[in-house]
Amino acid sequence: MVLFKRISVPNFLITFFLLSLLSVNCQILESPSPLVPDITNFIDKRLAQVFPIIQTFKNTITSDPFGITTTWVGPNICNYTGFYCDSPPDNITATTIASIDFNGFQLAAPTLDGFIDQFPDLAIFHANTNKFSGIISPKVAGLEFLYELDLSNNLLSGVFPISVLKIPNLSLLDIRYNMFSGTVPPPIFMQKLDVLFLNNNNFMLTLPNNLGDTPVFYLTLANNKFTGPIPRSIRKASSTLVEVLLLNNLLTGCVPYEVGLLGNVTLFDAGGNLLTGPIPWSFGCLKKIEQLNLARNFLYGQVPEVVCALGNLANLSLSNNYFTRVGPLCKKLIQKGVLDVRKNCIFGLPDQRPVRECVAFFLIPRPCSHPALLNFIPCEISHWKKPHERTKRHLLSYSTLSRTRVVW
Ligand SMILES: *[C@@H]1O[C@H](CO)[C@@H](O)[C@H](O)[C@H]1NC(C)=O
Ligand SMILES: *[C@@H]1O[C@H](CO)[C@@H](O)[C@H](O)[C@H]1NC(C)=O
Ligand SMILES: *[C@@H]1O[C@H](CO)[C@@H](O)[C@H](O)[C@H]1NC(C)=O
Ligand SMILES: *[C@@H]1O[C@H](CO)[C@@H](O)[C@H](O)[C@H]1NC(C)=O
Ligand SMILES: *[C@@H]1O[C@H](CO)[C@@H](O)[C@H](O)[C@H]1NC(C)=O
Repeated sequence: MVLFKRISVPNFLITFFLLSLLSVNCQILESPSPLVPDITNFIDKRLAQVFPIIQTFKNTITSDPFGITTTWVGPNICNYTGFYCDSPPDNITATTIASIDFNGFQLAAPTLDGFIDQFPDLAIFHANTNKFSGIISPKVAGLEFLYELDLSNNLLSGVFPISVLKIPNLSLLDIRYNMFSGTVPPPIFMQKLDVLFLNNNNFMLTLPNNLGDTPVFYLTLANNKFTGPIPRSIRKASSTLVEVLLLNNLLTGCVPYEVGLLGNVTLFDAGGNLLTGPIPWSFGCLKKIEQLNLARNFLYGQVPEVVCALGNLANLSLSNNYFTRVGPLCKKLIQKGVLDVRKNCIFGLPDQRPVRECVAFFLIPRPCSHPALLNFIPCEISHWKKPHERTKRHLLSYSTLSRTRVVW
């Protein structure tokens, strides 16, 4: 026993010394050398394979305010802060890195290339609020088990990471609050995602006609430079879309009738665009809607009474438009503080636009195509008289408009 101790203590110290040496010098790691920890020290060879990847990445990190990477030493990779082990789908007796969660770590590194793409069994990668820059490697296409990719609130740039289109079972793609620019590939709207958060980048794209093919429940395109009309094809997503954020883009044209067919939508926000026309009466069929924001556009006409009758509506934001009339139901909502029609052209109500602004606006005709559809109500309106039962449910997508909020 005494002998064992006398031998094992120096052994341990040597191992410790060698490991610290490894973690500070990645060049030693890259060439096969006796200093690489013995493969038998790892509980699985899959962990031995990612050990040098992690150490190499660690050496590129330029800022680590919480000392996260000080835990990235030794062969017990499953204990490194931010790394989570599980058995991979192809071998339930093996142990691998299944998930990486760096949310809020504020790590800075010039690139994730050569890092995330080197974890072949990765299912989840979350990295909200770090300072990762560079582009996303085409090699992420090889992550066949990846289903959640959250790179939100980083400094990533370049074009949309098109390689994500090749990840077969990706279900969540969150790249909001980065510096991505250029177009968004329309096939992203065909991918079998549940969640697509692209808000707060510099994407520029005329919304494509296949937008309605998206099977997502949550779609946030807010705070980019999306142009063109809201595609009528959006009706195709009526059984899936739950929350849609289009605010603060450059969308034009009349608000299409088809938006009113999104029967499961609880949140629809297209505020701060260049939309015009009246609100189609079909919006009276948005039976589940709680928040409807069309403020800061060029909308006109009467605020439809069918919309003000919607039973779950908690916030109807129509300020800074050119509406001219509100009926009795809408007036009630104004009193309740649900409907905001400030800065419109509704004479008799407080805080409206000056007359000359209204006159100037109406001098320019802004006709809509399919005018007959505008006053068509494609549903039973029996829900009109139901008492207002407001669900105080947490609306998820608005959290995406906060940089550091972790949505998942
Ligand atoms: C991992 O860390 C936990 C708690 O910090 C500890 O109990 C456990 O022994 C460690 N496992 C390994 C393999 O080092
Ligand atoms: C599964 O993983 C275990 C542990 O790494 C390994 O011993 C075994 O050979 C693997 N089985 C197959 C079929 O690859
Ligand atoms: C994708 O998901 C399906 C259904 O869950 C599953 O059968 C399939 O094996 C998965 N494919 C991959 C590559 O993980
Ligand atoms: C809403 O969702 C349910 C399932 O949650 C679905 O059956 C229904 O078709 C959806 N669409 C509409 C328009 O309500
Ligand atoms: C209603 O929604 C608008 C637009 O999103 C927001 O600015 C306003 O604060 C909301 N009002 C209330 C009372 O929640």
